[in-house]
Amino acid sequence: MSGSGLILGIESSCDETAAAVVERGARTLSSVIASQIPTHARYGGVVPELASREHLRAIVPVVRAALAQANITLADLDAIAVTSGPGLAGALLVGLTYAKALSFAQGLPLIGINHLEGHIHAVLLNDRESLLKKNDSENMKDTGFSPYIQQPNSTGVLAPEVNSVDEPALALVVSGGHTHLYLARPRHGAWSYSLVGRTLDDAAGEAYDKVAKLLGFGYPGGPWIDALARFGDSRAVPFAFSQIKTKLHLAGKAPRTKAARSAPIANLNPHFLFSFSGIKTAVLRYVELNNLREEAQARAIRLFPSQALHSEQNEMPGAPGLASETWDPSAAQPTPTPPKTKEEALALCSQQILDLVASFQRAVVGDLMKKSFAAAEAVGARRILITGGVSANRELRSRFTVEGARRGLRIAFPTLSLSTDNAAMIATAAWPHFLSHEFADDSLAANPSLALGR
Ligand code: KG4
Ligand code: ZN
Repeated sequence: MSGSGLILGIESSCDETAAAVVERGARTLSSVIASQIPTHARYGGVVPELASREHLRAIVPVVRAALAQANITLADLDAIAVTSGPGLAGALLVGLTYAKALSFAQGLPLIGINHLEGHIHAVLLNDRESLLKKNDSENMKDTGFSPYIQQPNSTGVLAPEVNSVDEPALALVVSGGHTHLYLARPRHGAWSYSLVGRTLDDAAGEAYDKVAKLLGFGYPGGPWIDALARFGDSRAVPFAFSQIKTKLHLAGKAPRTKAARSAPIANLNPHFLFSFSGIKTAVLRYVELNNLREEAQARAIRLFPSQALHSEQNEMPGAPGLASETWDPSAAQPTPTPPKTKEEALALCSQQILDLVASFQRAVVGDLMKKSFAAAEAVGARRILITGGVSANRELRSRFTVEGARRGLRIAFPTLSLSTDNAAMIATAAWPHFLSHEFADDSLAANPSLALGR
């Protein structure tokens, strides 16, 4: 143990194997991510069995790479933090088992982290990193913000910051598996979360992925729709909010999807509940009414020639022999990337499709905004933290920022690389737990539907 607050974070809840070393929840020494996108892209979604297998292949080299990049060894660490849920059972198990073994072998404390808490802390990590940069450049002038990195107190630990200007915060975690609103506040040195709202069915990212798949674009769908929507007329297809209206009649009833089951809905204000399955169905109906299916299928085959084969035969690709396999980032299969110019976009699809995706995105972002701002006002939030894969979306970032400025409410996003899954956010979220000695024991288990907060 170094005593300098070095935490190794490990993340394997979905389709990214990631490891990172973060100092005192405030300075990233390394962050390594092995993406499985090339593996899952041809199926148009994550195949859980393949995800576990890829995690097994990547976990050891990814952790080694994170230590090497940070220029440290296992002996320099103070703790190991690992995502224990929510996520895919088999995928979680790989990271968790490896983290447990490392902690046992090295005699290091183990900290189990909720993936959603990790996403929230991605924004806090950015806050602290920019503060450190500012302090460095201003020669450590007092900024009026009680920073994370300070001199240890008499007991040798660092006090977590309380930045009363920005708290409490409303956190919108918007990813492939979640669309959740939490009230987040630092309390007694740790963070507490209470659930304010969430989706009753599909997550926003799931809607992006399903619509992109339906239209014959790549996986994950968010970056494709993000890129294409810029070239379409977002008022062309009038997706009314009634198509993503809050299903008031479902409030109080048992949620239908796995994501929805991971958090209770009783006592939530029905106006802060989301539902994204309706808009996905509306896109499907539009595609059928306008005979766009063939165009979409032809595009899918053009982009992913092997996709049709795999889905028809329902076959798994050749299982790599684990013993002989190594993880080599440069060996990853190239996957098609979203177009960058209008010409490239039009070479890929019709203007009608561009208008459709622009209208879809406008409706989804509008709904996220409407409910998030209403919730922020209701709970008296001083700022909104927006995090998770969908927070990388350009339209979402600009519209939330403009509306926040209009209302005098600060809006914060993680940097793009911290928006999607990574392990730096896990190591960062672990820091307050480390300070309050909340360590896991042998019984820490992977929990695919782990809920956050009350
Ligand atoms: O947080 P994340 O990496 O993994 C989960 O925890 O689910 O989020 C992945 C999700 C996917 O659904 C992906 O389509 C979506 O984030 N996503 C985006 C964008 N980049 C990723 N959605 C909209 N716009 C983007 N630029
Ligand atoms: Zn995530």
